[in-house]
Amino acid sequence: MELFTPTDWTDYELIDTGNREKLERFGKYILIRPEPQAVWKKALSEEDWQKLHHARFSRGKPGSQQLAVGSWQSPVGSPQSPVGSKQSPVGNKQSPRYQNTTGQEVRRSGGQEVRREEKGEWIRKPEMPDQWMIGYDYKEMHLKFRLGLTAFGHIGVFPEQAENWKFIYDTIKLAVGSKQLAVNTGDSEPDPVIQSSSDPVIQSSSDPVIQSSSDPVIQSSSDPVIQHPVSGIRVLNLFAYTGGASLAAKAAGADVVHVDSVKQVINWAREDMEVSNLEGIRWVIEDALKFVRREVKRGNKYDGIILDPPAYGRGPDGEKWILEDSINEMISMCAELLSGQSAVGSSQWAIDNPQSPVTSHQSPFFILSLYSMGFSSLIGESLVKSHFGTEREIQTGEFYFTDRAGRNLPLGTVTRFC
Ligand SMILES: C[S@@+](CC[C@H](N)C(=O)[O-])C[C@H]1O[C@@H](n2cnc3c(N)ncnc32)[C@H](O)[C@@H]1O
Repeated sequence: MELFTPTDWTDYELIDTGNREKLERFGKYILIRPEPQAVWKKALSEEDWQKLHHARFSRGKPGSQQLAVGSWQSPVGSPQSPVGSKQSPVGNKQSPRYQNTTGQEVRRSGGQEVRREEKGEWIRKPEMPDQWMIGYDYKEMHLKFRLGLTAFGHIGVFPEQAENWKFIYDTIKLAVGSKQLAVNTGDSEPDPVIQSSSDPVIQSSSDPVIQSSSDPVIQSSSDPVIQHPVSGIRVLNLFAYTGGASLAAKAAGADVVHVDSVKQVINWAREDMEVSNLEGIRWVIEDALKFVRREVKRGNKYDGIILDPPAYGRGPDGEKWILEDSINEMISMCAELLSGQSAVGSSQWAIDNPQSPVTSHQSPFFILSLYSMGFSSLIGESLVKSHFGTEREIQTGEFYFTDRAGRNLPLGTVTRFC
């Protein structure tokens, strides 16, 4: 079991925690958000918090919560825009991580699901803008994120995930390096040309769920040629949200497929790709489980798979995602999709798949993040072991940030290998 905390942020800081709230700096702006796990006392005074913050997210008054019985539709209406924004990558009807840990509760009761969701309200000081930018730099990776205040309190980035971005970047770079070395020594096939306009997986016209080239906001066949190194390394990011992991993989030179069920979220991710000076990510608006089932049928393979599933969510056609019901099938599908991972416990992948761009010189990688209160990292580890075998060296543990007073705030679990 390991503890992971990103150390490269300059645009993010956890300033203080306590009384079930957290005080965080994102670039120039300081936010107060609910944090149910911060059950201790604030280190700074209430006056300090008042003075320091630019915006505070507060949940509805008692009694203002809405209750939906047997329904997985959000009872709180359609997606909303960041305050004052024309764009709408917010207030997503799904259950993004932030909701699950703060305002939402699901119980099973007599076979029916009872879901309680709570939107909130941002109370802003005059200097707080609707949108602002932050950056994250690591080696040659320079990511930019456009942040905005959303109806459920999330703002477009989960800073603890930076620990995974580094892992993704380093793993892909290493694979690219090994491959180049192999090419130079005549030990490998040349890279296949990536055909962004005719990739049968993403842009098959017969596939109703893949965005077509006529969609103005989704990556289309007329997109400019990819300028970043084309490695032939394929990465799949599921439940991908605004796509920090997709950007990291793209920045390292991978061919990235980004799947999320909410179009507004995908638009937001696309904006982040553009401001990060990257291009060529393939966007898929679909139910993640449906997508992986189809990819397995098609016999497609990926060299890296990243997933960060919420506790509850919905596909674009109302498909239910309930973590504890579907995660086992999801990981089993991922095991089939990962290059060289043909059977549980297989250690023959490199020998069996000598032509695979990654597997000939570098093992495929897999990252499962879970952020569901009460879900131990051992659950992720056991899931991964049961589908990928026990022979791999698996890292498993918790994400956290430390506040200025030295208290560690847990922020979900991760199980990964490469
Ligand atoms: C916890 S967020 C992922 C955060 C992301 N890893 C990051 O660090 O930016 C969960 C995402 O899953 C998406 N989602 C929920 N249900 C889904 C489903 N059935 N299929 C695909 N995506 C879904 C949501 O729209 C949301 O963007």
